[in-house]
Amino acid sequence: MIIATVNQKGGVGKSTIAVHLVTWLREQNINAALVDADRQGSSSEWAKELDTATPVYRLQSADEILDEVKLLSEKVIVIDGPAGLGEVTRSMLLVADVALIPCGPSVLDLRAASDAVRVLDQVHRIRGEKPKGAFIPNKLQKNYRLSEELLITAKTLGLDVTPGLGLRQAFADSAGQKSVVWRMNRQAEPAATEILGLFDHLFAN
Ligand SMILES: Nc1ncnc2c1ncn2[C@@H]1O[C@H](COP(=O)(O)OP(=O)(O)O)[C@@H](O)[C@H]1O
Ligand SMILES: [Mg+2]
Repeated sequence: MIIATVNQKGGVGKSTIAVHLVTWLREQNINAALVDADRQGSSSEWAKELDTATPVYRLQSADEILDEVKLLSEKVIVIDGPAGLGEVTRSMLLVADVALIPCGPSVLDLRAASDAVRVLDQVHRIRGEKPKGAFIPNKLQKNYRLSEELLITAKTLGLDVTPGLGLRQAFADSAGQKSVVWRMNRQAEPAATEILGLFDHLFAN
């Protein structure tokens, strides 16, 4: 299975979710690997320092992704995408089974991500099948509830909305600590509960 994190905007949580996800999968004894498709290389460094056993690949061109990802032997491949909707993102969607689209919590954030959905639809027309797509509302403020409008907009775009993640210091600190929130201190527990709940949701069916 190939899972891609995509969104043309930077800073929405693609790398944070990708590194947490690959680490969680490996803790479930699933042979999972990370492909870092972002030239900045931050998620590959993070994942390597976090768990030396995690297979980490850096593939930064569309050609490399199209040629090599399907040849990787691990059971689940998590590809962390770059910002932008260039050919790297398009190539990721051409090989992915699932596209996770982290985005900010407002309808405006969701609309901004709708260009990614347009690319998903193009890929659908080319492949004849759509990578399953889901929005992950990220950086939710305290007591934030997803608005009805946001849920309707997502539905119009044909995508699920997963449980969201709060705006939490623990997530912001996790990269610097080369850790994942469930291995951090007690203050990180609410963040851990949230992201583990998200993964349970994603893999429940
Ligand atoms: N839920 C969250 N709460 C607080 N900070 C977050 C959260 N998700 C991501 N961040 C922080 O926001 C910044 C951008 O996240 P990142 O995962 O690198 O986004 P992207 O890969 O989409 O550019 C990072 O500093 C990260 O630590
Ligand atoms: Mg990133």
